[in-house]
Amino acid sequence: MSADYAGRVVLITGAAGGFGSEAARCFSKAGAKLVLTDRDADALAALVGNLPDGAVVTQAGDITDEATAEAVIAAGVAGFGRIDVAINNAGIAPDLMRLSETPAQVMEQVMQVNVLGTFHVMRREIALMQEQFARDGCGGVILNVASVAGLVGAPMLAAYAASKHAVVGLTRSAAIETAKRGVRINALCPSFAATPMVDAMVESMQHAPDEALARLVSAVPMGRTATAEEVVGAMLWICSDANSFMTGNAVALDGGLSAG
Ligand SMILES: NC(=O)c1ccc[n+]([C@@H]2O[C@H](COP(=O)([O-])OP(=O)(O)OC[C@H]3O[C@@H](n4cnc5c(N)ncnc54)[C@H](O)[C@@H]3O)[C@@H](O)[C@H]2O)c1
Repeated sequence: MSADYAGRVVLITGAAGGFGSEAARCFSKAGAKLVLTDRDADALAALVGNLPDGAVVTQAGDITDEATAEAVIAAGVAGFGRIDVAINNAGIAPDLMRLSETPAQVMEQVMQVNVLGTFHVMRREIALMQEQFARDGCGGVILNVASVAGLVGAPMLAAYAASKHAVVGLTRSAAIETAKRGVRINALCPSFAATPMVDAMVESMQHAPDEALARLVSAVPMGRTATAEEVVGAMLWICSDANSFMTGNAVALDGGLSAG
């Protein structure tokens, strides 16, 4: 996907991970200035070492802490004066387990990161983008990285599915609130993709890695995982000016999984 982000300021949470680091590289290649955050400060620093000087600001921290959300937005504004696009991508997935065996602590942790973490940045991004729209007519675009587990049930991943359904709910509701205020808000809903998150899931299964992966993708009509490049290709298009009429959408990128 070729898209032009020259001069645009793009914020990415969970920037050091599988989708996040690929997004940082691809948006940078498309000309964007980047505002990157992740709780893994070392991985964030390593990523920045491979990006163009002067076009990146970083703010490490835990996204479940409101102070991190506040600091990231402030760093973006201090560095570049505005934020045009926000990819709210930080998230966690617990090991596979039945709902009846899921400790409340796991449920709480997943909701804290995936829902509260998204909420903390979203509300500040919306406020800033609406302000930008009132000032110069250019608001912004928000893309929440949910999951196909935010659209359909996900056996053995109930806590995760509940959190991603909540992210879709935040997306749709806020999109309606901001539709006339210069902010487009959508969610991207991928199925399993080849990233450290899925590597960890495969490792936690009681099967050889190939067998475990085959079981994970058995319900995907295309019969395979997505690549990070495919997921980021969708991000580039969804957030682009070419896609200016899409808001409140939860876009499945799932090899056909949710079609059945
Ligand atoms: N990989 C998949 O198959 C898949 C499928 C659908 C949706 N997703 C979603 O995509 C997003 C990115 O996933 P990924 O596969 O790149 O995972 P990943 O584990 O490779 O990366 C996630 C990144 O988020 C960061 N992070 C986690 N918790 C954080 C916190 N509390 N504060 C700040 N940073 C935090 C991690 O340090 C990591 O760098 C997640 O929201 C995930 O739920 C992934």
